[in-house]
Amino acid sequence: TAKRTILGIESSCDDTAAAVVQNDRTILSNVVAGQTDLHAAFGGVVPEIAARAHAEKLDFTIARALAEARKSLSDIDAIAVTSGPGLIGGVISGVMMARGLAAGSGKPLIGVNHLAGHALTPRLTDDLPFPYLMLLVSGGHCQFLIVKGPDSFTRLGGTIDDAPGEAFDKVARLLGLPQPGGPSVEAEAKTGDPSAFALPRPLLNRPDCDMSFSGLKTAVLRERDKLVDAQGGITRQNRADLCAGFQSAVSDVLAAKASRALNDYLDLNPSQPTLAVAGGVAANEQIRKALQIASDSAGVAFTAPPLSLCTDNAAMIAWAGLELDAIQHPGLTPLVARPRWPL
Ligand code: KG4
Ligand code: ZN
Repeated sequence: TAKRTILGIESSCDDTAAAVVQNDRTILSNVVAGQTDLHAAFGGVVPEIAARAHAEKLDFTIARALAEARKSLSDIDAIAVTSGPGLIGGVISGVMMARGLAAGSGKPLIGVNHLAGHALTPRLTDDLPFPYLMLLVSGGHCQFLIVKGPDSFTRLGGTIDDAPGEAFDKVARLLGLPQPGGPSVEAEAKTGDPSAFALPRPLLNRPDCDMSFSGLKTAVLRERDKLVDAQGGITRQNRADLCAGFQSAVSDVLAAKASRALNDYLDLNPSQPTLAVAGGVAANEQIRKALQIASDSAGVAFTAPPLSLCTDNAAMIAWAGLELDAIQHPGLTPLVARPRWPL
């Protein structure tokens, strides 16, 4: 097949990102400009601040991605941009920028679903055949998808309230640990006893792939309130125990629901069954191990893209663009910014 090169642009959450990727799986550049420092004082992502920062950073981020790839716009075959779902201000900034670049260069524009970007990432690093099972688990998302093609996904279930990353972030806040909560709760959990507190495993007995994490966070809050001293503090050990208990509960739920999803997926009878995971929470060691065990016992391979491609980035958007390009799919048409866009 002929060589194709796509510029990807991502600005749907709190990372401004641009990347240049070829259809032979070469990532020529992958630039991510984060905003963690801008939102730190507010304890979460502030949409208005994010939109403003994207508008300011997109220009420079794209220029850097092209420079690092030693390409100019004229060397690019198409521009792929995240057109949803996400924080609408940021999505609009990215879409406007991409439209401008496409109009100026005459290059085709491909609207990419952010979730499809995550879901197709295992094929950027490995030649993973369709259909595979994907657990997308991040700060904003939690769902099981059967990935059947670049534009073909079946959702088996997902969270009915918070995403696990969001729950990690909230638990960190409750316990006075720094953001992002995932890594700090994980570090704290290392010295904790996961069975010191009886925390719930919500929806575990429901025979589907749906999950819930908001009650678990509330249970941590309740336990904390029983433990706090007059100054509102808790002991290091209690804190570590709560982190360990919380992490184990999330891990148990994800693993049990993964087993259920694997069961449904295996009915499709692929010859090379694989569970792939993507999203920031996939960085968690205990969760990865639990998913590995669930896959092993189902006789299914387990794979996770490298962390830099698991968290939000534009290489995955460029890659999704290349996948759509290869099947001559125009992507989202008309290309408009969508805050909600289920796969
Ligand atoms: O995929 P991501 O970078 O952004 C989106 O949410 O789209 O995921 C970020 C989320 C945050 O909520 C963060 O706390 C969580 O992933 N996270 C973790 C870990 N590292 C990051 N959660 C659990 N354990 C970790 N080691
Ligand atoms: Zn994401």
